[in-house]
Amino acid sequence: MAARVDLYNSAYSNYESEVYRQVRIETYGQDFGQTSWVTTEESREIPQILQLEASSSVLEVGCGSGRYALHLAETVGCSIMGLDVNAPGIDNANQLATTSGVAARARFEQCDVSKGLRYNDETFDAVFANDVLCHIPGRLNVLCEILRILKPGGRMLFSDALVVGGMISHEEIATRSSIGYYVYSPPGENERLIEQAGFGQIRVTDTTESASCIAKQWHRAREKRKNELVAVEGAVNYEGLQAFLSCVHNLTAERRLLRCLYSADKAR
Ligand SMILES: C[S@@+](CC[C@H](N)C(=O)[O-])C[C@H]1O[C@@H](n2cnc3c(N)ncnc32)[C@H](O)[C@@H]1O
Repeated sequence: MAARVDLYNSAYSNYESEVYRQVRIETYGQDFGQTSWVTTEESREIPQILQLEASSSVLEVGCGSGRYALHLAETVGCSIMGLDVNAPGIDNANQLATTSGVAARARFEQCDVSKGLRYNDETFDAVFANDVLCHIPGRLNVLCEILRILKPGGRMLFSDALVVGGMISHEEIATRSSIGYYVYSPPGENERLIEQAGFGQIRVTDTTESASCIAKQWHRAREKRKNELVAVEGAVNYEGLQAFLSCVHNLTAERRLLRCLYSADKAR
């Protein structure tokens, strides 16, 4: 088995570090504090897919560093709540919120989403989760919770980079899963669960190719800064993360693992 590798603690604790910022810019183009496979193009499409407006009340599940949620509050003018189980992520998000001009409209809380969402029915206009639901057991329950807290006519979006598209060895599964708990989905399962939860208007976009590019760019950007990153993360974790990123690149380039973006509506 591949040893456990840390991605999120080091990414969020070192968010302000110049070397981590450079890696993000070289990987994604625009820095939203990402630790995911979301391209800048997808980041720009999300507000349109969710039909966000200044009056929208939005929940981001698995907000990580919080930077993307704050970007939405700044550019769209919506109110946003960000949840993540990772304490350094939420600390970073709250610090960024304090120094941003939108602290009154953006809030962040540490929360394990697998334990449910403690909001009243029909609270949000939109809920989204970028590359997060793969980490959470009980996907149908999570989707039912999202439906419950959405207002009638509300929209949800999530991406899943762990849709199995072909044969994968046990070593590859171990390396791909080395950064945490993961659930792999058979093709069609997300669509079935979204429908079973009660959503309509299901739309699916295959983004496997762009996930493969992000993994390659991320690996390369880190390799160029190996000495600085080893000084922060340690050699073992640095090599573990590089192996993880190579594995993501290979599996997605060969379409043995697929990444799809799902969006759906709650009936009016
Ligand atoms: C791939 S990262 C994506 C972060 C962010 N959405 C982005 O695009 O950069 C997955 C995030 O899910 C969070 N996460 C994992 N399990 C969770 C759980 N049970 N409840 C809430 N957040 C969770 C992790 O801490 C991490 O920040």
